[in-house]
Amino acid sequence: MAKYTLMKTEGRAKRAQFETVHGTIQTPVFMNVGTVGAIKGAVSTMDLKDIGTQVELSNTYHLHVRTGDKLIKEFGGLHKFMVWDRPILTDSGGFQVFSLAGLRKIKEEGVYFQSHIDGHKIFMGPEESMQIQSNLGSTIAMAFDECPSSVASREYVQASVDRTTRWLERCKAEMARLNGLPDTVNKEQLLFGINQGAIYADIRIAHADTISKLDLDGYAVGGLAVGETHEQMYHILDEVVPHLPQNKPTYLMGVGTPANILEGVARGIDFFDCVYPSRNGRHGHVYTNRGKLNLFNAKYELDPSPIEEGCQCPACQHYSRAYIRHLLKAKEMLGMRLCVLHNLYFYNHLMEEIRDALDQGNFAEYKEMRLAGFEEGKI
Ligand code: GUN
Ligand code: ZN
Repeated sequence: MAKYTLMKTEGRAKRAQFETVHGTIQTPVFMNVGTVGAIKGAVSTMDLKDIGTQVELSNTYHLHVRTGDKLIKEFGGLHKFMVWDRPILTDSGGFQVFSLAGLRKIKEEGVYFQSHIDGHKIFMGPEESMQIQSNLGSTIAMAFDECPSSVASREYVQASVDRTTRWLERCKAEMARLNGLPDTVNKEQLLFGINQGAIYADIRIAHADTISKLDLDGYAVGGLAVGETHEQMYHILDEVVPHLPQNKPTYLMGVGTPANILEGVARGIDFFDCVYPSRNGRHGHVYTNRGKLNLFNAKYELDPSPIEEGCQCPACQHYSRAYIRHLLKAKEMLGMRLCVLHNLYFYNHLMEEIRDALDQGNFAEYKEMRLAGFEEGKI
């Protein structure tokens, strides 16, 4: 079974390690998003090891509609398929169904929707989501939830959260059944529950109290960074995280900018994930300690310096801004790839520095120093 060890705290910030069958995760951690089992931008799993990735994140919904989880199970599971032996977290499909799929209908049993690939009708409920994630054999499976719109009415949000709680109980039972089957890929698959409640702090707190009693392997805060302000998000974290177990990992889903991550860590979050570093990299937007640069800008035309002086990523160790800009303009895949590698390294390295600061008891100072730097360049 997984073991969470809290090694240090500073205010509400936690420095911990989480031991899983696929290795130990040092937290706080940023998971690198590989939706379909690959990081977009032609980044391989060998590259991920070079840039210090601890956990890869894939999506149940995408792998179910293409190429299919049954095939991946037959191959031996997602770890073997994508050649990655460190932890994988799979999102449950709930969020992707709501953001991507065509016409959908939410019922007590689950969600009826159409594939975004070919429009065919699919049903996914808590049991189906657990079965798909079990076929993939990820280290951590996420509960099947509904992420209500940030502008949904209080009545809608309350009814949705109550249904998400009933879905969570069904996820837990199904996961226990699947982990006990003889041909299961990963019999020690872990389950994280997801807190919802939009911007209604009292609904979220009551939900956090309820799901905390289910003794799950970890707890996520979902339904944030979906249109509310950063201040609203920080306020929700201030209110909700103290109602989640201190001795379990916490995960802030889909967040966020480097500043959001520093604020999340300060509020007790262990796990983060976001498409920003890979998506920005594919557009030639690269992170530095003084803000983001747009490498398409003409001022880098003859710039011999690396994206960031002193950066130990594979791009900065060899290539100039001028050359990467040329590749981007020529639409050569290598341009994107170098930018994505740099950005993911930047995020992974930021987390390493956060962990070091927590180890040394100076996270508060480190956070202020970093935020001041980012502020100059509006990161
Ligand atoms: N990714 C970002 N937010 C969410 C959420 O609320 N639920 C799920 N399942 N995934 C997410
Ligand atoms: Zn770099």
